[in-house]
Amino acid sequence: MNSKARAKGAKLLFNCTECGAQSSKWSGQCGACGAWNTLVEDVARPAGNRSGLNLEAFTMASEVRSISEIGADDEVRIGTGFSELDRVLGGGLVQGSVVLIGGDPGIGKSTLLTQTMGALSNTVSTLYVSGEESPQQVSLRARRLGMPVDRLRLLAETEVERILVLADREKPRVMVIDSIQTIFTSQVQSAPGSVSQVRESAALLVQYAKRTGAALFLVGHVTKEGMLAGPRILEHMVDTVLYFEGDVDSRFRVLRAVKNRFGAVNEMGVFAMVDNGLREVSNPSAIFLSRHEEAVSGSVVMVTREGSRPVLVEIQSLVSESHAPNPRRLAVGLDQNRLAILLAVLQRHCGIAMYDQDVFVNVVGGMRVSETAADLAVVMAALSSLRNQPLPGDLVVFGEIGLAGEVRPVQNGQERLREAAQHGFTQAMVPKANAARKSIKGLTVIPVQSVGEAAAYFQDCFASRGP
Ligand code: TYD
Ligand code: MG
Repeated sequence: MNSKARAKGAKLLFNCTECGAQSSKWSGQCGACGAWNTLVEDVARPAGNRSGLNLEAFTMASEVRSISEIGADDEVRIGTGFSELDRVLGGGLVQGSVVLIGGDPGIGKSTLLTQTMGALSNTVSTLYVSGEESPQQVSLRARRLGMPVDRLRLLAETEVERILVLADREKPRVMVIDSIQTIFTSQVQSAPGSVSQVRESAALLVQYAKRTGAALFLVGHVTKEGMLAGPRILEHMVDTVLYFEGDVDSRFRVLRAVKNRFGAVNEMGVFAMVDNGLREVSNPSAIFLSRHEEAVSGSVVMVTREGSRPVLVEIQSLVSESHAPNPRRLAVGLDQNRLAILLAVLQRHCGIAMYDQDVFVNVVGGMRVSETAADLAVVMAALSSLRNQPLPGDLVVFGEIGLAGEVRPVQNGQERLREAAQHGFTQAMVPKANAARKSIKGLTVIPVQSVGEAAAYFQDCFASRGP
């Protein structure tokens, strides 16, 4: 808490991090949105201070127009130099848009943006505002990354009013604020990083972007739960929210759109962190497979579809006898509830019970699969581990499973099959409706209609190989 603010006799109040509502006393539940444990202490803004903001300067000329009068070519996109980043943004950076990038500390947000700005500075004017690192640190990194350092403009400043005055002078087309939690406005008394500071600073920056047409990248910290720190409304204020994530032990990083006003969400860009910064991985399928010498039990490769392209991922399962009264069900990278449903379907429709077994499921490489096309792969992986029998190493599996035990088709089946064939897989267990109309060279399709058929295939496979 800002002790200076308190000394002045400023009133304490509480801000909801979810909806931004203010209340004069603390309570466990926000009275406005009903969220629990979201009220955080803050300092009241002196009344009338809002008028101190130079609002006139930010007011955009507004008039009522018909949609057809507004040309579609108003949306100008700039290539960022990273085609993976362009893809996640929906085809490049839109002028006047505000992009929030969140991620764990040290994941490479500053590196990604330094490289992006370096590439952009060849064609447009850029400004990198660093509130966390000194100009020396930023410059050192840019040099180490081999960026053209002469055209990339740098500012180490944390007060938003000063940033905006200097930005008005520099007129950048693309600006980075690293990070929004370090930026403060003198109009609000609380400490940088507090709910009201982040909200008000971000509001001023968003207004600046809309007024000047400059594109803005905001770096955001995440909390230990992996959410963006600060008020939830920060996510509503910006046009695009991206998460930069990855395993700490792995050099691969995934950039994912969770909100995008200018493109599809769930689009994914893959990067590798190497000695001289981030390198794009344009063919991510290869990296999410763990490539066993021999087929191992409990491992199944599936084809998931992330955004606009199919990706091969490996799903691993471990089923082991449980001694706990409640056997454990743990899913990493997959929906835990879905796992419980699938095990229930397996028991009800195939008579294969796992109530006395702990079941663990994991997606290799720190990937997250949210689509239901993983169902069939999860079931096959669990069966394989339960029976301790490996599935063929050249088999891919995908398909959704319904509560009646039916295997339902998934979208873009053909594309998934082609991706599998391209990576040398020769068999594919897929929903019957997804079986290729035109056969794909080198790929044998095993169509299944029910989870029973899938389990039966497993038995056949097992039997033909002998004990
Ligand atoms: P950074 O961009 O500072 O992370 P963030 O801004 O998200 O906190 O990245 C720091 C990490 O990246 C650090 O652990 C070292 C690693 N790194 C490399 O491996 N190679 C490089 O060329 C650079 C610049 C960083
Ligand atoms: Mg950083």
